[in-house]
Amino acid sequence: MTAITDRVLIFDTTLRDGEQSPGCSMTQPEKLRVARALAELNVDVIEAGFPAASRGDWEAVNAVASEVQGPTIAGLARCTREDIELAARALSPAPRHRIHVFLATSAIHRQYKLNMAQEEILRRAVEGVRIAREYCDDVEFSPEDASRTELDFLAQVVQAVIEAGATTINIPDTVGYTVPDEFGELFRYLRKHVRGIDGVTLSVHCHDDLGMAVANSLTAVVAGARQIECTINGIGERAGNCSLEEVVMALTTRAAFFNLKTGVNTSRLYPTSRLVSNITGMPIPRNKAVVGENAFAHESGIHQHGMLKHRSTYEIMLPADVGLPRSNLVLGKHSGRHAFRERVKQLGFELDEAELNRVFEEFKALADRKKELFDGDIEALVLRAGGAASGPWALESLQVAAHSGAQARAQARLTHTDGRKLERDGIGDGPVDAAYKAIVSATGTQVTVRKFEVHAVTIGEDAQGEAILYVEHNGRSYRGSSVSTNIIEAASRALLEVINRIELSRHSSARSPEVHAEARTEDTAAARAVHSAV
Ligand code: KIV
Ligand code: ZN
Repeated sequence: MTAITDRVLIFDTTLRDGEQSPGCSMTQPEKLRVARALAELNVDVIEAGFPAASRGDWEAVNAVASEVQGPTIAGLARCTREDIELAARALSPAPRHRIHVFLATSAIHRQYKLNMAQEEILRRAVEGVRIAREYCDDVEFSPEDASRTELDFLAQVVQAVIEAGATTINIPDTVGYTVPDEFGELFRYLRKHVRGIDGVTLSVHCHDDLGMAVANSLTAVVAGARQIECTINGIGERAGNCSLEEVVMALTTRAAFFNLKTGVNTSRLYPTSRLVSNITGMPIPRNKAVVGENAFAHESGIHQHGMLKHRSTYEIMLPADVGLPRSNLVLGKHSGRHAFRERVKQLGFELDEAELNRVFEEFKALADRKKELFDGDIEALVLRAGGAASGPWALESLQVAAHSGAQARAQARLTHTDGRKLERDGIGDGPVDAAYKAIVSATGTQVTVRKFEVHAVTIGEDAQGEAILYVEHNGRSYRGSSVSTNIIEAASRALLEVINRIELSRHSSARSPEVHAEARTEDTAAARAVHSAV
């Protein structure tokens, strides 16, 4: 019997469950960037994706397994040999890797989704774990929709998969339905009724449909769970997953209550949160716990007075504990490289010399156009330096003329990495429409715009505007974003990012790695449909 420890493992599923949420899909370089940030954050496990979902997912999991050091790298698989083999091969380069198999157990899923009796579920779950153990010593099993499964059947499944070799048992509240007291009881029930449960790691995986994912996860931990599955900024299916930064800071701030610790380097929470928000285009609400812009702001006179007397009157965590930059120091065009480097560092970013030089040049160019540069401006420059927008097409120049009461005209000059240089005109209903028409005419890629947002990155009339664009192309959703003091240019670059993503995904599905030559080739959207139908 393994003694229960005071260490809670943090299993990050931003790249799998988080990426599954609408509009949050990431390219492979973006996934690698997030995975590296998660390794710096020192999470214990990174669930890098669902290798059988598509060729792109397989390649991304394989790239993370090959290039990211530190955490265990996990991949999701259904209880089939084909899925498990794909996961095993994708994960094989990682020195420590885990196969995570799942199968729904609740009566609702058995009857309406799987059309399987309890015996069939039991048989397939055991078989899935046995197959996974052929490839890997570290096997996690999740009874999907566990919180709505009959307790005695859940206990039976859990005991059977432990006997088959599962080393982690994860209990998902798949639809965010449970409440803390009930969920705590479920964990206590399993610990009492399942033979061998103290020899495995008990894990919790909560969704936030009723806003209780963090509370339910903490209750599970009090009841004996020692792994929490969570995502950065709580992104995930529907209302999202348990938020990593919230659950970690709850355990840290209330250490005297929980008597538990994680290995997370909390000072990396804020930069990681900003990175994921920037890459996914999913904004962080201002009042979001721990990493929201207002999380450490004190507006009312009484609170400010208290804070001046002693921080502890109204602050339960220090901004520095989560890596929040202390001041909103303003830099300008006279600020030198040294001050810039210091600020970038204080904001929690590590850039090598070449990246710093490139971002510093962009900073200088921006400072010529804008009086004062705030942290938000610097973050936008640094976060974009990773090349989210990079791809075959680049915007060389854009001219737009718009007059009230008349149609707008645009002329875009674009270059392609294959050497093409194209100049096209567009006429439209407003400057953004005209610029889009010119770009679509040059690239030949038609898209259907579903949502278009522009918001100011910082304050002031010369603030940079961030344009975020959601489009559909051939039944798939894509997102692009860009930042500039010229919002027409930001919108145009956001469109170009989308077009680049479309070209890159065409390219990645055109390549044929041996593994997928013998397996499936459906695209991610189709595979996800399969996923939710299983
Ligand atoms: O929510 C869920 O049930 C899942 C499982 C695959 C773990 O994401
Ligand atoms: Zn989930």
